[in-house]
Amino acid sequence: MPTRAWFPTLIYCEPLQKTGLSRLNEGLAAECRQLRDFDTAGRKWSEKNYPGGYTSYASLNTLHRFSSTFTALEKKLTAHVRAYARTLELDLRGRTIAMTDCWVNIMPPTAAHSLHLHPLAFISGTYYVVTPAGCPGLKFEDPRLSKFMAAPPKLPTARPEHRTHITYPAEAGNVLLFESWLRHEVPANRIDAERISISFNFNWS
Ligand code: NI
Repeated sequence: MPTRAWFPTLIYCEPLQKTGLSRLNEGLAAECRQLRDFDTAGRKWSEKNYPGGYTSYASLNTLHRFSSTFTALEKKLTAHVRAYARTLELDLRGRTIAMTDCWVNIMPPTAAHSLHLHPLAFISGTYYVVTPAGCPGLKFEDPRLSKFMAAPPKLPTARPEHRTHITYPAEAGNVLLFESWLRHEVPANRIDAERISISFNFNWS
């Protein structure tokens, strides 16, 4: 082949652990719902900024420092972030990585999360806690989209890696990691059931 691919965008998707996921997720779901009930400031913020849903993004966003359940999750997620960073071939010798933010997202029917990226971090991700059948996944956008200018559209039969968007289904127990500059969104929840996820940022020093 005279043509080779360069500058790949890598997305990581792996179960958090090999066994015990449903028990772990039951505990996490109960704690996420408790947080929503307790977090008056977060519910108020969500009313305006996360219509129809609840996120602790602006109120309780360092959950790994306050809850033993989330501290245990942080430890497991850190191992995945390290594996992902190795695949990215980042030079972390003599450096440390740490979770800087960790927050809960509860999306009832109609809730959506529009296109965004995660500033002040280098690796971000989501852990899926409750994902009823038919709930929305995570949709990523080709980071070069704004530079395509006059490019013609892709063939309908184009390989997934040649398309401008890719959607990862939300699956309870899975960890999804991406570089924080990669824009993504969660389309509206069109089913009559709540979807719960935990999002997080990592930084290095
Ligand atoms: Ni996000």
